[in-house]
Amino acid sequence: MSAPKKLFIKTYGCQMNVYDSERMAEALGGEGYVETKSPDDADMILLNTCHIREKAAEKVYSELGRFKGLKAEKPDLKIGVAGCVAQAEGQEIMRRQPLVDLVVGPQSYHRLPEMEAKAREGEKVLDTDFPEEDKFEKLKNRPKAKRGPTAFLTVQEGCDKFCAFCVVPYTRGAEVSRPADRILREAQDLVERGVREITLLGQNVNAYHGAGPNGDMTLAQLIWELDKVDGLERIRFTTSHPNDMQDDLIEAHGTCAKLMPYLHLPVQAGSDKILKRMNRAHTAESYLRLIERIRAARPDILISGDFIVGFPEETEADFQATLDLVEEVKYGTAYSFKYSTRPGTPAAERPQVDPKEADDRLQRLQALLTKQQREVQDSMVGRDVTVLFEKAGRFPGQMVGKSDYLHAVHVADCDRAIGDLARVRILSSGANSLAGALID
Ligand code: SAH
Ligand code: SF4
Ligand code: F3S
Repeated sequence: MSAPKKLFIKTYGCQMNVYDSERMAEALGGEGYVETKSPDDADMILLNTCHIREKAAEKVYSELGRFKGLKAEKPDLKIGVAGCVAQAEGQEIMRRQPLVDLVVGPQSYHRLPEMEAKAREGEKVLDTDFPEEDKFEKLKNRPKAKRGPTAFLTVQEGCDKFCAFCVVPYTRGAEVSRPADRILREAQDLVERGVREITLLGQNVNAYHGAGPNGDMTLAQLIWELDKVDGLERIRFTTSHPNDMQDDLIEAHGTCAKLMPYLHLPVQAGSDKILKRMNRAHTAESYLRLIERIRAARPDILISGDFIVGFPEETEADFQATLDLVEEVKYGTAYSFKYSTRPGTPAAERPQVDPKEADDRLQRLQALLTKQQREVQDSMVGRDVTVLFEKAGRFPGQMVGKSDYLHAVHVADCDRAIGDLARVRILSSGANSLAGALID
């Protein structure tokens, strides 16, 4: 048998790309590839890219440039670009960077094995179709190898919302949900391989409407089915849209013990004028009332958000409305970005905010969000939480895991193994994590 070929994958962007990278590695595993941690000894390099902001997209070209020397030394090295930049700029990548052999969009990566074979013969291959067939079904079954205690599982892809700033509807296509039985099978398989916590993924995961035995199912119904999987201890989902937050999902947060008290619910801005121009189809008030209802169902839930500052035509008063909304919600975590103009999106044509002004707003928003994040984290001190251990800590006897609220928790003198769940009393709160002690 010949020596295995080595595959180096670098992943940018969201969790869906993390999941896709795993599946691509598995698909190429069937062609004799094993993963390597360094590009230097790779036979194939794949960049799984993100197009969401300009900086993310430009990174791809600088990263590719760095492989020039390697390719010169090793003419058999194949270089591929996957993900959302591949989808958006496939032709341009091929033109701008001749060392690229292969470009594959997020909907066609089940065709990677054939593409790899063609690339090996010296062909340049590009596939950015949105094929009819279900790529997940076309992929080989996931190998039975043991794996860590947490996993991502994509249940829904694409987006029909067309927020005026966003490329996702163009790079990932229309909303599609996977049938429930396939998701349940994959979840069962992950659990057999050691997984204890599954995060269900979708660009609009709560718009899930996959086929079930009695018609389409909601995300809450799917969660209740997963709740029955023995050995699966925790369920999370991301990213949800405020307009798809149905009653049964809110209720599940109060009644389903395996569903964790954490919700990423991006609002983007606090001014109704800006929300309207963003095409978000909700107001600040409707978002705040929604948060109220969710907290009524699960009072201790940790709320996470995404924000954009400096969206075209955002005034200081509009920005103030964002700060006011943040003050009212009190976020446990949040991600905030300066608006980035994306070619082909409606907002790209509109009057832009002065970049210095946008920088200043971003700093002010981040200061407030960091303060809130810290306050929420500090409020955990003295409380008892459940921790799922994910790895050994830096000190002997120390273990690190995540609480139900997704805070990192360090536990000293810990005799538990990776994959164990334990009750932990939180003793102190540090810069980015908590420290605690086992209770029993
Ligand atoms: N589907 C998710 C978010 C996907 S993109 C949702 O609807 O919430 C992740 C985040 O990137 C967005 O929530 C938004 O805050 C940010 N983002 C998207 N496009 C952007 C742009 N053009 N400039 C700056 N931030 C952007
Ligand atoms: Fe982008 Fe809006 Fe769709 Fe989220 S809901 S992926 S921000 S278009
Ligand atoms: Fe980026 Fe595509 Fe995800 S643009 S955020 S990798 S869906």
